[in-house]
Formats: sequence, structure tokens, C-alpha cells
Amino acid sequence: MTNLATNSAGHLTIGGCDAVELAHQYGTPLVVYDLGIIQSQVQRFQQVFQEEGVEHAVCYASKAFANKALYQFLNRLGCHADVVSAGEISMALAAGFPAENLVFHGNNKSREELEYALEVGLGTIALDNFHEIDLLEELLAEHQQNVRVILRITPGISAHTHEYIQTGQVDSKFGFDLQSGQADEALERVLANPAFDVLGLHAHIGSQIFEEAGFEMAGQTLVDLAAHWQEEFGFTPRVIDVGGGFGIRYTEDDQPLPPEQFVRAILETIKTACRDKGLPLPAIWIEPGRSLVGPAGYSLYTVGSRKEVPGIRTYLALDGGMGDNIRPALYQADYEAVLANDVHAAVTEHVRLAGKYCESGDILIEDAPMPSAQPGDIVAILATGAYGYSMASNYNLNGKPAVVFVHNGQYYLVTRREEPVDLQQYDLDLPEEGAL
Ligand code: LLP
Repeated sequence: MTNLATNSAGHLTIGGCDAVELAHQYGTPLVVYDLGIIQSQVQRFQQVFQEEGVEHAVCYASKAFANKALYQFLNRLGCHADVVSAGEISMALAAGFPAENLVFHGNNKSREELEYALEVGLGTIALDNFHEIDLLEELLAEHQQNVRVILRITPGISAHTHEYIQTGQVDSKFGFDLQSGQADEALERVLANPAFDVLGLHAHIGSQIFEEAGFEMAGQTLVDLAAHWQEEFGFTPRVIDVGGGFGIRYTEDDQPLPPEQFVRAILETIKTACRDKGLPLPAIWIEPGRSLVGPAGYSLYTVGSRKEVPGIRTYLALDGGMGDNIRPALYQADYEAVLANDVHAAVTEHVRLAGKYCESGDILIEDAPMPSAQPGDIVAILATGAYGYSMASNYNLNGKPAVVFVHNGQYYLVTRREEPVDLQQYDLDLPEEGAL
């Protein structure tokens, strides 16, 4: 179990605030983020670059969790952000996030989204495919505009948590294929059009990665390609972006590297490879999502019914579930839970923590060691800050939970709970009988 802070009442505290009080004040399910953890994670990723005096950007991958207050906080910490939709762009801008610090990703950016990006002066577009180059060329000509781009490469490396498989040809919907010459062709296309300011190249190899090896391979592959591009096309990249994917601890089975170690490995690989190839060291960008917000997030639920299936198990029903955290149902993701109103109580049973959604697969934790929890108790599931709320749904017409930020003993409501009436705002009445 992670080191948990508690107060004299034995309640879980998050950023110095009593989790049970937060649950009572704002209701459950409730998502609470400890800003101190986000800040420390950001600084740990920035630190090595700063010590080594290397130009860099920590581009937060918004998909892990995005709301206005988070964009504001990350902007204060000097982060850039990776965005993948008009929704994320618009939220970032509404928060006052500088458009020039946004990188626009995605394998099917629409004409409208690209036009919007150009209109707001979005910093960099990560070009993903030839169709997008066509669309952008049209739009740039129409608007008499220039845009900064990086090219997304499929590097031929896929990282699966613990194992790294180097494949000749990666079967991926993202990016320009390296082996078949697509990447070269894409570069030639954009170099030929002065409306593209080509900054460099990008790769993202996967998510929840625990070892340096995949990042080292990606860094090496990108520098090799840069050297080839310099020789072949006289193009020298100013940016190498190695993407995100840095793993975090969900349970004791997960042993991720510290952020500093990931960065040091990436930096050393790119530095050495550039020196070997006679290339100047470009700026290095990384795109952590999960690792910045995952460990900072706590989901608080109220216990409802207890169901004993004699001789088999006990189900403890919580008032949230797959609607606010689809990851266990979708990926068989594991989490740990604690009884937030009595953290030190002795574990007396193993229970199945079930959600409230009308689906048997709506189980948050299959087998959670717990003290005997009763209706009305507050359960906290830990490390839920990434891809929980951001992948939330309104299944069964349940509203999304409220989100609270805590910092140094203070708490702030930053996203209010969706109420049933909020869910009705898009719906229109059936035409009158007879008109239909
Ligand atoms: N950059 C790019 C281009 C990405 O596609 C992603 C994630 C990231 C950065 C951030 O990766 P992270 O540091 O968060 O691992 N829903 C899944 C994760 C999907 C990740 C998709 N791309 C989950 O819940 O595990």
C-alpha cells in the first residue's frame, strides 16, 4: 500500500484535507486531486533537463484528464500541453493556456479542427498522415498562413508494459511508417511548401511503460532518422519529441522508474546519438499524461449494499463504477482501495468492490482486502487520476462526479457534479402527435 496520510480521527487525508469531510461536503462519487503530487511530478520531469541545460518542453497529454483549473495549474508550472480535439483546444484556451504552447495530435484531425487550430494560432501540429498534409496545405493557402509542424513517425517499436518488441513494420493507425519510406515522402512534401515550418519529429511508443529501453530505442531511431534527413534533404530538426507513456504505480505489482531516470535515459541516448551522427542537440519534448495526474487522483465512493454470496464472496456496492472509471472493465486494470473513514482498521475480509451500473462487468476491484465496511462508509480508490474522469460516460444516465483540487490543506471545487437536469440539456421533444 502506498504511504497514506491520515489524521487523528484515522481518516484519509489528501493534500492535508480530510477525505471524509470532502466526501460529505461534495457528495460521492468524488474525484480529488492533490496538486502537490502533480507539481512534484512535473518538477521531477523538468529537473534533469534544467540541470543539464537542455532546451525542453514537458507537454502534458491532456487526454489523461483535462479541466480548466488543471490547464491553469500546469501553465503556472511551465508545462506545454498535447491536445487531440477541438474540445481540448477550446478548454485549454478558455483556461488562458497560451495557444503557442499547445501541440495538436491525432490521426484524423478534421478540416474544422485544423481550421480552428490555425485561427487560434495553435503552436505546433503533429502531422500524422498524407490526408492531413493535403488538408493543411489547402487551409494554409486559403488563409495565407504558416504553421509549425512536427512529423509523427511510427518507429517500429511497440512497448508492452514489460516487454519490448521490435517489429520491422508496425501495424498502427498513427504516424508515417518508417520502413516503407512514408516518413521520407512526408518530409519532402512539407519541405517543399514554405508554409510549413518543420520543427522536427515525434514518436509515441505506448503507455504505462516501466523501463527505459523503449524510450532509448525510440530516441535512437529518431536521431538515426534525423541524420538520414540531414544527409538526404539537408534538413536538421530543432525538436525531437519522444512522446509519453511513463508508467505509474497502481498496485504493489507495479514498479515504475522514477521520472528523473526516464528523462536521464532519454537525454543520454539522444545526446550520444547526436554526437555520434554530428547533429546539433535539438530541443527535447516529452508528453507525460498518466504520470503527472494518475498518482495525484483519488476516487471517493460511499458504500451501499453488502451482498454475501454464501461460501463464495462478499460484494460491496459503491455509488460509482464503470461510468467514472472504465479502466477495470476495459483493460482489467488493477487498483488498491482503502476505507477512508478508518484507514488503520485491520483487514478482516476480501471483498469484491462492485459499481452501481447495470452490468455484471462493472467491478472496480475484483478482490480487495478490506476491514469490514458497512453502508455509509467511505471507500477511496487510489491512483485514479489518469483516464478515469477523462473516459467517464453517462451510462445509465448517471452524471459525472464533481472534481475537487486540494493543496496545502485548502480545497477547491473545480468541476461541479453533473446533475440529472444537466443530462437533459441536449435533448429535444418528439414532434407533436400527428406531426410525426
Ligand atoms: N502522447 C501521445 C501521442 C499519446 O498518444 C499518449 C497517450 C500520450 C502522449 C500520453 O501517454 P501517457 O503518458 O498518459 O501514458 N486510456 C488508456 C491510455 C491511452 C493512452 C493513449 N495515448 C488507459 O487508460 O490506460
